[in-house]
Amino acid sequence: MATIKGEIHMAVVLSGIGGFLPPRVVTNDDLSATLDTNDEWIRTRTGISERRVVSDGLSTGTLAVEAGARALRSAGVSGVDTVVVATTSPDRLCPAVAPEVASRLGMGPVAAFDLTSACSGFLYGLAASAGLIASGTAESVLFIGSEAFTTLVNQRDRGTAPIFGDGAGAVVLRRGEDDEPGALGPFDLGSDGSLADLLAIPAGGSRQRSADASLGHDSVPTEDWYLRMEGRPLYTQAVERMTQSAQAVLKRTAWSVADVDWFVGHQANVRIVRAVAEELEVPMERVAVNIDRVGNTLSASVPLLLNDIAASGDLKPGDRVLLSAFGAGLSWGSTALVWPDIRAEHVN
Ligand code: UT7
Repeated sequence: MATIKGEIHMAVVLSGIGGFLPPRVVTNDDLSATLDTNDEWIRTRTGISERRVVSDGLSTGTLAVEAGARALRSAGVSGVDTVVVATTSPDRLCPAVAPEVASRLGMGPVAAFDLTSACSGFLYGLAASAGLIASGTAESVLFIGSEAFTTLVNQRDRGTAPIFGDGAGAVVLRRGEDDEPGALGPFDLGSDGSLADLLAIPAGGSRQRSADASLGHDSVPTEDWYLRMEGRPLYTQAVERMTQSAQAVLKRTAWSVADVDWFVGHQANVRIVRAVAEELEVPMERVAVNIDRVGNTLSASVPLLLNDIAASGDLKPGDRVLLSAFGAGLSWGSTALVWPDIRAEHVN
């Protein structure tokens, strides 16, 4: 188990935000038409009422382009010199989706790469993008969390199918001043790979590649191409890790819990977010939630939620925000920032 407690010495500022959801809505009742589940179970156990799902040729790349364009608009810039996409559901295993996203946004030959860290992808990607700026490697970064993860979920498995949704959230980062609103605070990042099997897709990677018998490969059972999840132990880990990680960040800011205007936690389950807030002693009215409408969108979850509360006017310039996420790996991360005076568009 390793925890990196990095400090960004050159301030990196969040200067734009955007989000995008695919138009197709799948309600709990829609799911219960084909699965042995029901609206009441899904709502009470997870907080989810509906989710968005890709259709009509939409994919992680197209969602990322839409969210990225909105973040650039919000930042009032037409380009950046680096594009980073956090995703665990890339368009293809090879190449990374970020170069294509950059091209489709008309960026020219900028640096572009993907980063994989499942539901903590936004926190890891934020830290990595900020590090590129802090080291002088990049001037400004468009960082997008984008997922069409429902394509990797077995729609016949009631244990996972109700939980996930598709979407993208994006931010623009640039160099700035320490005391400027939007300056990213200290990061806490950590992982525990000994529990990797709690949330995993067994096949498709180099360990269990294909079912081509002519090449001497073993056949791969259909279920192995889809996500496997052990919900109960993950739940316990999520609450513990997010709480400890958020506390580590708070300790390194000059904030007390009472200073936190918004706790923005990864939306895996509303009960997890509330349990973490309770442990942190953040009052429930300061806990941001949108899982009811979008489900668990992995790396898109935190930026979509930030965009939602900013667009609604609930999150105001000057508000102090504590961010935390947890997911497959296992991996987790947290940071803090004072919300800048930027425009956020309502997500469709
Ligand atoms: O994104 C980051 C990583 N992911 C997480 O952090 C997920 C963490 N885990 C969770 O959020 C929860 O564990 C779940 C939402 C996945 C499941 O909730 P739970 O309260 O832990 O339920 P459970 O899996 O223990 O199942 C309780 C019961 C079982 O029936 P019995 O054995 O008590 O008769 C399940 O078979 O609920 C049953 N069940 C369902 N019933 C109706 C499981 N899924 C469903 C379903 N509809 N969809």
